[in-house]
Parts: sequence; C-alpha cells; structure tokens
Amino acid sequence: MYINFWYPMTTSDGLTDKPLKVKALGQDFVVFRGEDGEAKCVSNTCTHRGGSLSDGKVAGNCIQCPYHGWEFDADGHCKRIPSLGPNPKIPSRTRIDAYPVKEQHGIVFAFLGDLPEAERPPIIDVKEWGQEGWTSTLQTYTVKCNYERSIENGIDPAHNEFVHDTHGYKGEDQEYKIGDMRIVKSSDWGQGFWHTFNAPTLPDEAKFKEARKQAGDLEVGTGYHGPSHVWTYIHLSEENWMHQYLIERPIDEMNSEIFLLCMRNCYTDEKFDQNVMDRNQYVAEQDVTIVENLHPMITPDTNTKEFMLPADKCILLYRESLKEWEQNGWKIDSDAVAATAHKVAYAIPSPARREQKGWVLDTIPLTRPRAAADDLAAG
Ligand code: FES
Ligand SMILES: [Fe+2]
Repeated sequence: MYINFWYPMTTSDGLTDKPLKVKALGQDFVVFRGEDGEAKCVSNTCTHRGGSLSDGKVAGNCIQCPYHGWEFDADGHCKRIPSLGPNPKIPSRTRIDAYPVKEQHGIVFAFLGDLPEAERPPIIDVKEWGQEGWTSTLQTYTVKCNYERSIENGIDPAHNEFVHDTHGYKGEDQEYKIGDMRIVKSSDWGQGFWHTFNAPTLPDEAKFKEARKQAGDLEVGTGYHGPSHVWTYIHLSEENWMHQYLIERPIDEMNSEIFLLCMRNCYTDEKFDQNVMDRNQYVAEQDVTIVENLHPMITPDTNTKEFMLPADKCILLYRESLKEWEQNGWKIDSDAVAATAHKVAYAIPSPARREQKGWVLDTIPLTRPRAAADDLAAG
C-alpha cells in the first residue's frame, strides 16, 4: 500500500453531520462534514490518550473526542482542552494529522500523504463528467482481497472470456485468442492498452440490446492510474460508449472498498440506471469470486513466482510503476506495522509534517527511506 495518492473515503451522499470511521491503508481516519458543509478528514487517534475520534461528535467545524472532549479542527490543530479551563495555551504538539480533501464525482477523496499540493498525483481524470450527452451511476462494494490483485484483474484482458458470460463465450470459443494490445500512456501515473475482442451480443434482459445488436468485435481500452484506480472504456458501437472507473481504497492488505463510477452516453434516461448498476454488480461478483480466492493473497515479490503471458503485459507495467513508487519511499512496510500492532499508533504523514516538528504519533514505517529531495523538503 502506498502513501501520497488520493483515495476514495466515502460517497458524498454517505457523509452526513455524523463522523464516519474509515479505514484506509490499514489505518483509521475520521471523515466528517463540518457546519460549513465541507468534508474533512483527520487521523482517528486522539493525541491525548488514544481516543477514537470517530466515536465522538462534530462540534462546529471540529471533531470532538468522546473521551475527554478535546476538539480538533480540519487542519488537525487542537482548539479546545476542556480540563484546562477557559483560554488555556494549547501546545502545538497536540496536533493530529489532517489530510487534503476533494469532493468530486459524488466521492469524497482524501490525499493520504505529505506531498505539497503541486507535487500530488491527481485523481483519475473523468473527462466525460459534466459533458453533454453523458450520465453516470456510482456504486460501491467491498472485496476480501489485496487491492493490487483486484486492480490487476481490471487490466487483464484474458479473463473476460472465462469469467464473464456477459462479454465472453465461457471458454467455448475455439478460435479465442487475445489480439494486439496497443499500449497507451494514459497519464503521468499510468498506462493502459486498447484492443479488439470478440464478444457476444448483449442479453435481452440488460435492455441494452439496441446498443450492440450483433456479436462480434468490440473496442475496449483499459489501464491503471496510480496504485488503485482503473479506467475501462467499452465502445459498444461507434457511438454508444460506456466508460467505467474503478476507484479503490485499500482498507488494509486483505480488504478493499471499490467505488465503481460508470459513465455512459447511451440509454442516458435515468430509468436505465438500475439496469446499468445491476449488470455492473453481476459482472463485479464474478470478478470477486476469482480475486478473493487467489493464492497467495498478496502478489508475489518477484514475477518469476507466476508464469506471465503476453496478455499480462499491462499487469507487468503496473508492477513496474509500483516499484517506482516504492523507490520514492511511498510504500508502507506492512510487516513492520503488523509486528507492532496493538503497541504503536501510527499516522500516515500529512503535509503539515513537512513544516512542523514534534508529533505525538510515529510516522508509519515505509519500506525505503524517502527520496533525498523529500528529506530536504522535510527539513
Ligand atoms: S483521549 Fe481524546 S480527549 Fe482524552
Ligand atoms: Fe472482470
């Protein structure tokens, strides 16, 4: 799991004036909406004696700890310590980590890392959002698997034929072969490919039969963006398109929450939304059955422990990107975290750690030292 990327914490609809405990990268965060209506995200561990802030309540634009009532604002500053009486001087070391938040596409994203704004890898670009002729659905589900296994499933062209009867022939097509994968660099943070594959016509019950009347070649593009986002563009015909974004939040090494944002420019009437979501759910469940049962659950450290084929090309590119991000010093050392579980409360470093020294919680262990430039910036 990697720090310094944007992760989906909850849906905008799912965030009320009640604080929400959200686990990401193996750590707990509290996400809440203040009286200003803005979504906020801070570390869930109170710096006093470890109270769980999400079990407290929202007080104005602060979150109040349920244990002794300390209040923290959206920048993580402690603003109130009731036991000290009125107007005490509050030490800066009481500060908790606070994370940049963006709400877009109906999702509340938090940037879980310490990079300054200009250096942050962006959220995946959803070009169709707000464009005339496009509409969207958003659905979420959790998977009991390592998120990298799920991302690799998303960029694997060869499983469709076997796993999905909606767009494959269940392994019965004797002529089946993965054709050329035309690799594209889709952003500074990912790559993908386009390919043409043979797929059956859409089933009647999907009510989309008109969008794709005949079995045959289908143009599909897919790729990754950062460690946990996947785009899949399905061109049912020259003009009927469905662009899907699978945006994941690793809950921990063994669980992931998936936000599936599906954009479409056909059947745009909202009466079709449920059909789209039902079909997406049907397909997702087929993938879930596979990825929850892979062995080992976490991708092996070297590619020689699996026998990779040409159709696994994009997966290999993804693994190379992950290695680059590890070189940056962004990979969490989950073994070290597990070794100290129940004894040490860690924080994912927030941007303020670059400006302020002296924090109560330790920075989460990383597998490699931070890049030299990072160390300089951190002082
Ligand atoms: S533990 Fe949070 S106020 Fe005491
Ligand atoms: Fe799939």
